Amino acid sequence: MITEQAPGKLYIAGEYAVLEQDCPAILVAVNQFIRVSITKSKSSTGSIHSKQYSQDSIHWVRRGAKMVIDNRDNPFEYILSAINLTERFCLEQHIKLRVYDLHVNSDLDSADGKKYGLGSSAAVTVATVKAILRFYNVPFSNELVYKLSAISHYSVQGNGSAGDIAASVYGGWIAYQTFDKKWLKRELTQKSLSEVVDEAWPGLKIQLLTPPEGMNLLIGWSQKPASTSRLVDETNANKAALNVEYKQFLQQSRKCVLRMIDGFEQGNIDLIKMQIRENRKLLQHFAQINQIAIEIPRLSKLINIAESFGGAAKTSGAGNGDCGIVITDEQTNINELEQQWRKNNVLPLDLHVHQVKLMQ
Ligand code: PMV
Ligand code: MG
Repeated sequence: MITEQAPGKLYIAGEYAVLEQDCPAILVAVNQFIRVSITKSKSSTGSIHSKQYSQDSIHWVRRGAKMVIDNRDNPFEYILSAINLTERFCLEQHIKLRVYDLHVNSDLDSADGKKYGLGSSAAVTVATVKAILRFYNVPFSNELVYKLSAISHYSVQGNGSAGDIAASVYGGWIAYQTFDKKWLKRELTQKSLSEVVDEAWPGLKIQLLTPPEGMNLLIGWSQKPASTSRLVDETNANKAALNVEYKQFLQQSRKCVLRMIDGFEQGNIDLIKMQIRENRKLLQHFAQINQIAIEIPRLSKLINIAESFGGAAKTSGAGNGDCGIVITDEQTNINELEQQWRKNNVLPLDLHVHQVKLMQ
């Protein structure tokens, strides 16, 4: 039996803007994992097992006379897509395909169906790609895993920056810029998968960051689930109408995150905290012009409590639920802050940044 794992992630800054090229975001990988194990099947049929994934509801939308099921929150879709794509890659290497059983074990999805929003669809994609490559004895680099995972994930979700995939593959703190999706689509119709993953992808930038000493990351969970793909559908639909305002948001977010990256490079915690607060404001404005709720009241509570203890806080990811993050320095009374959170129905998550061992 072989087992591979991939960590969950959290956005620190640059959300929504990172969907466009040349707009950086900062993310971290956290020490909660999805593990995928593969054993060769004893018969001619295989299976996929998971303790945590039992689908008791589905989402659908009406398109004219038809009800269309939205499968983007279904983990099995990501697993199947990762298997198909990675096997296609293996076939191109003239590997003989086999039948197997696949077991998935996820810290990111609790048995009672509660999700913290730590990127479980990205992590399950990455863990599956790695497990399949290992099963077929294909040597892999982080870059190969990122590229195969990004293509499989995108073919299910249809939107998204793949920043969560990068965090899950590279670990630690990263600065990320997405690739040119139109270019990739075209390449995939004209070239083999092996050729496409060997190419440099225009726009893609993944840079490892070192956090300043004494800087701390706190994570609070709003206890409310949110759907990233549906929020991104809405903001995508508004892009054309918002035109200038949208472009302004992109430009301001870009500036803010680049300054934050400077903060990491200079080891300047105050500069990082300042940009967290700036990014919060930009996202509040973005929510307003899109008429969506990013910073819901529970998340505002989380942020305001953290700010009252001197932390710099904002929503993490698409918002509308899930988590908020706080950057603190040595002055912050973390125990007291977390106690206040609990009193207000925000659960502090005892997570740590997960470093992945370096593979080119
Ligand atoms: O809510 P999360 O943690 O899945 O983050 C979504 C971040 C977005 O920028 C809104 C979407 C994306 O794919 O980058
Ligand atoms: Mg989210």
